Amino acid sequence: MNEAPMSIDKTIQLDDLQFELFLEKDQIKEAVKKIADQINQEYQGKEVLILGVLDGAFMVLSDLLKKLDLTISLELVKLKSYHGMESTGEVQKLLGLNSSLKDCEVIIVEDIIDTGQTLSYLLKLIKDQQPKSVKIASLLLKADVFNDQFPVDYVGFSIPDKFVVGYGMDYKGLGRQLKHIYIIKE
Ligand code: IMP
Ligand code: MG
Repeated sequence: MNEAPMSIDKTIQLDDLQFELFLEKDQIKEAVKKIADQINQEYQGKEVLILGVLDGAFMVLSDLLKKLDLTISLELVKLKSYHGMESTGEVQKLLGLNSSLKDCEVIIVEDIIDTGQTLSYLLKLIKDQQPKSVKIASLLLKADVFNDQFPVDYVGFSIPDKFVVGYGMDYKGLGRQLKHIYIIKE
């Protein structure tokens, strides 16, 4: 059954905070497609190990992987550095790697890079395993606060240093299911 198109909520409330619409699902879809096109071109004919960083990256992972025309294997790690809206300054590993990355062409997939701390930690962790190559894809990058300690090879959007939710990203555990991305209302 076809349903009438639903209108988009321009503002939403999650717990004690209000957020406003920032990136609509079609813009996100287009950005993910662009990243997929680049990866398909650069890795043509190769096997790629996608290393997804949970929890936030689950939506971008799902959409990106469906667009990759390559031989793909998937590994997931679960890292946590945020509490509410604050980076805690330390990274916790909640779920680790199951298989070795030795000689693999690895692409790390993130929802958002903020200070870069989480990925600095992950890069150190996987370097010991001697992957053949490591590249990084992130849907969002907070360019003004990023520590610049590693190259981000594929970026969907550079965004200001403001808290965002939706499309996998949460505030106090809420909002991950939203199709669009919302930014904190000041
Ligand atoms: P970093 O270690 O400072 O780069 O932070 C990276 C992680 O913190 C991301 O993978 C997210 O899980 C979380 N994070 C950073 N900024 C935001 C945000 O604006 N909204 C939701 N989660 C965020
Ligand atoms: Mg993340």
